[in-house]
Amino acid sequence: MKSEERKEQNHRAVVEHYAGIAEAYDRRWDRYTERTLDTLIEHLDLDRVEELLDVACGTGRLEIKLRERKPALRLTGTDLSPDMIRIAQKRLPAESTVRWVVTPAESLPFEQESFDAVVCANAFHLVPDQPAALQEFHRVLRPNGQLIIVDWCPEYLTVALLLAGSRGFGRQYRQLHRTRDLAALVERHHFSIEAALPFRATWFWGLHVVKGRRHGGTEGCHGQRP
Ligand SMILES: C[S@@+](CC[C@H](N)C(=O)[O-])C[C@H]1O[C@@H](n2cnc3c(N)ncnc32)[C@H](O)[C@@H]1O
Repeated sequence: MKSEERKEQNHRAVVEHYAGIAEAYDRRWDRYTERTLDTLIEHLDLDRVEELLDVACGTGRLEIKLRERKPALRLTGTDLSPDMIRIAQKRLPAESTVRWVVTPAESLPFEQESFDAVVCANAFHLVPDQPAALQEFHRVLRPNGQLIIVDWCPEYLTVALLLAGSRGFGRQYRQLHRTRDLAALVERHHFSIEAALPFRATWFWGLHVVKGRRHGGTEGCHGQRP
């Protein structure tokens, strides 16, 4: 199967999966989501952010948290799943400082250098073309903008065991990286790494946070993969 076809197939599986669980998602993942999003916010230098893009925003819980901390922040949440976006939209209706867009992480319909921060929580492992997504994150970030990825870490035994036996855990594609490999992947896309840290959200869920800072110039971006 060609890689484009495989990507489309993976996207369809994600849309189908989240259509089935969108309504129950917040209830089912409440504690996990609280902890992982709080960790992301701890690493975000919010004072330097006026415009933030949350890729794979799901039901918009990060936006609510950020709103409470900085009401003037301009927020854009994107997700592949229209069902997740619908819930986000109900929670925080679109207005002058909030917008919701259904689009894959690999193709962001925004001008280059339009955001001070791009974040992606609990979703990067689901993205079939991660280099394309990173290239897009770089493209839409302003020079010195922050990128924060929070994702599952397969170096925790519980997560490794889950993945090993995960055939029954949804049909979604998953590509996880060890912390240093995720940091290296981000670095190859023209970011300086400022943090690459494992953490536990619950006794079971082991994750990591990788923070990159987009290099000052426009090197390596917009059309060419590193
Ligand atoms: C586990 S949820 C996390 C949602 C939210 N970031 C949070 O932490 O609450 C994963 C989300 O990633 C989205 N997603 C998966 N693959 C995607 C892709 N290629 N592009 C954009 N969104 C994607 C799903 O639709 C889903 O809403």
